[in-house]
Amino acid sequence: MNCNRTGEFAKELQALGWWYQHFEFPNGVKTGGGDPPGYDARTRWSFIEPFVPDDLTGKTVLDVGGNAGFFSIQMKLRGAQRCVLVDPFEIAIKQAGFAAKQFGVALELIMEDAHAYCLTTEERFDYVLFLGLFYHLKYPGIVLDRLAEMTRERIFIHSHVIGHKRGPGISKPDYKRKTDDHLLEHPGFPRLAFVEAQYNEDSTNWWIPNRTGMEAMARSAGLRIIDRPHRQILVAAPEIYFGKQVFPKLVFPRYGKPGGAVLPGPQRYDAEGWIEISEAIAQRPVKKTNFLVQTGWKWTNRLRSLCLKIRGRLLSKII
Ligand SMILES: C[S@@+](CC[C@H](N)C(=O)[O-])C[C@H]1O[C@@H](n2cnc3c(N)ncnc32)[C@H](O)[C@@H]1O
Repeated sequence: MNCNRTGEFAKELQALGWWYQHFEFPNGVKTGGGDPPGYDARTRWSFIEPFVPDDLTGKTVLDVGGNAGFFSIQMKLRGAQRCVLVDPFEIAIKQAGFAAKQFGVALELIMEDAHAYCLTTEERFDYVLFLGLFYHLKYPGIVLDRLAEMTRERIFIHSHVIGHKRGPGISKPDYKRKTDDHLLEHPGFPRLAFVEAQYNEDSTNWWIPNRTGMEAMARSAGLRIIDRPHRQILVAAPEIYFGKQVFPKLVFPRYGKPGGAVLPGPQRYDAEGWIEISEAIAQRPVKKTNFLVQTGWKWTNRLRSLCLKIRGRLLSKII
């Protein structure tokens, strides 16, 4: 494997700036600076991949907030006919173009805000990837509703979530004003926290849902939740088709955080988040492998999870 980080390739890679998605190119070189990944895109893919058909021949894909294109590329490698990646930042679009070239696939790259794209296109797609974007949107509900309408077969939703980890949450067909108001304050009640300031030093973070909030919003967009491979990930399919309204003229507000950077910088290593993901992997039944491989995988992940836990504790003492 060629892990050479010098030469023309490395120069090109560096010129493309800070990479949020860490993954390996076919020549063995990885994105990022060689540090422990802030975000290893393969891990997220490992939760989604079992729900993606092996053969996507003739299928169309939308990857909204697609960043450097890791997920779009995976869909193309499975034979997707067309894959549209939308991201408002030039750095992401350039990285995605570079990455697609390395894998010998073609992506349609659109440099646009998700709101503007979703509110101005009439396109529909077989598969929609809505990963790591919900909380970056100032109007997440309208984008989710549009994406639900745009999905023909399946949508993958990932969001950072807070609070209420387990249990079914609160659900009633009708809440009585006043007498049921306490239920609305229950931690399991679907909610979004509005972040007026920055969150994780990122001024593109706006609304953080809890798990039940994410699910309730998906259902209310007309989606049926097929599976929850991780507490931050939903696999869903269209259930109720609400249709769409096309307005001849739509004026969309500009938005931003006063004093906040437009483009988020490199993110800090999220030790806690990775502990959670590693633990989820360790508990997950492993498919398609024999007993020895399964046992090895399970214990490797448990060990990894333990190392991350120790590292996280040490880091939190240092910070
Ligand atoms: C947390 S990253 C997730 C990237 C990728 N989907 C993944 O799961 O690895 C968020 C991505 O959304 C993009 N983004 C942020 N605000 C956006 C917006 N308003 N519309 C579309 N994309 C946005 C960012 O540029 C970034 O590429």
